[in-house]
Amino acid sequence: MKKKTNRIIFSSYFLIVICLFSCVNTNVSSSQTFTKSLKSHFENKFFIGAAINESTILGKDDKSYQIVNNQFNSITPENSLKWMYIQPKPNQFDFNTADQYVQMGLDNGMYIIGHALVWHAQLAEFMQETKNKNEFRSHVENHINRLVKRYKGKIDAWDVVNEAFEEDGKLRNSIFYKNMGENYIEEVFKLAEKLDPEADLIYNDYNLYKPKKRNAVIEMVKQFKANGTKISGVGVQAHWGLNYPTIDEIEQIIYDFHIAGVSVSFTELDISVLPNPWELVGAEVNQNFSKFEGDPKMNPYPDNLPNEVALKLANRYYDIFRLFVKHSDKIERVTFWGVTDKYSWLNDWPIKGRINYPLLYDRSYKSKEAYRKVLQVKTN
Ligand code: G3I
Repeated sequence: MKKKTNRIIFSSYFLIVICLFSCVNTNVSSSQTFTKSLKSHFENKFFIGAAINESTILGKDDKSYQIVNNQFNSITPENSLKWMYIQPKPNQFDFNTADQYVQMGLDNGMYIIGHALVWHAQLAEFMQETKNKNEFRSHVENHINRLVKRYKGKIDAWDVVNEAFEEDGKLRNSIFYKNMGENYIEEVFKLAEKLDPEADLIYNDYNLYKPKKRNAVIEMVKQFKANGTKISGVGVQAHWGLNYPTIDEIEQIIYDFHIAGVSVSFTELDISVLPNPWELVGAEVNQNFSKFEGDPKMNPYPDNLPNEVALKLANRYYDIFRLFVKHSDKIERVTFWGVTDKYSWLNDWPIKGRINYPLLYDRSYKSKEAYRKVLQVKTN
C-alpha cells in the first residue's frame, strides 16, 4: 500500500508538470488535459489502469495514448507480453514492443503490470510440441528468467499465473499441469520471487464471484501463506455484464480475499451490453459460437447505443465504483480491459463481428456517460 501511495504522489507531480507544459502547448486538447481525471479522482484509493494494445504502445494510436496518459496511472499490455509474441521460437525473444511498453510506463510514472508469465492460451507453438517434460520445464524456467530479470525493478506486478482453475474448483488440465504436475503454480511463483523479490506477484482469473472457483483460489492462497510462498494479490478479471454478478457477489469476493490475507485487484474490467442468451459468463476464450455470427438478434446495436442502455451501463459502473471506493483499503488496483469501445476484445467474443460498448470511451475516443458517472462517485 505504501508503494501505491508513493507512486500516486509521483504521478500527481507528473500530472502537474504535464498540465504546466500543456498551458503553453496549444496542440494539446484542453478538454482532455484539464477535465478531472480518473487517476486524480481515485487518488489514494487504488491504482486506476487500462490494458493497452500494440498500436498504443508503438505510438500508432496517439488518441488512445493521450487518454491513457491523462486518465490512468497503471498499464497492462493487452497482448504484447504474452508468450507467443515474446518468445515465438525456443530461446528467440522479441522484446521490441515489450520494451516500449515498459518505457511508456516508466516515462509516465505508472504502476506497470506484466501480463502474463504462465497461461495456457496464446502460448508459442513450440510449447505445444514439446513432449519431453524436463525440456518443457526448462522452457518455462527460461521464459520466466528472461522476462522477470529483464524488467526487474521496472515491472511492478506480474500476473504470474493466469486462469489455472476450472469452474468446479479443480486445477485446469492445462499443458502446464500435464507437464509440470500439480505444484507448478507454487513452483513458478517461487521462481518469480527469487528473480525479483520486490515485485508484486498476482494470481489472475475470471468468474471468481462463483464460490467453488473462488474457494479453490482461496485454498491455494492459504497454502502459499502456510508454506512461505509469496503471493501479493489476486486479480479478479471482471469481464461482467449489466446484470451479473450482483454487487453483493462482488463484495463477497473482496471480503473473502481480504480475509485470506491478499489484496484484490480488478484486473480486466469491462461490461458487455450485448445479449448473453446462453448464460455465458466469464472469459474462457475457447468457446465457439460461430453459428451466431451475423445474427442481428445477437448484435442489436450495430449503429449506436440507445440512450437507455447507455444510462444502464453508466449506472452499473457507478454502482461498481461505489463498492470499490467503500472497500478501497482492500483493493490495490482497478484496470479496464481496453481504452475505447473501438478496440475492445468484446467486439469479437464470444461472437465475431458484433458491436459492443463495454468501456468508458466510445469509438470516436470521446468519454461516455459511464465515464461521467464514475467521476460522480464520492471518494470521501
Ligand atoms: O496476432 C494476430 C495478428 O497477426 C492478426 O493480424 C490479427 C487479425 O485478427 O489477429 C492477431 O491475433 C489476435 C490477438 O488478440 C492480437 O490482437 C487474436 O486473433 C485474438 O484472438 C487475440 O485476442 C486476445 C485474447 O486475449 C486471446 O485470448 C484479446 O486481444 C485480449 O484482449 C484477450 O485478453 C485476455 C487476457 O489476456 C486474459 N483474460 C481474458 C482476456 C480476454 O480474453
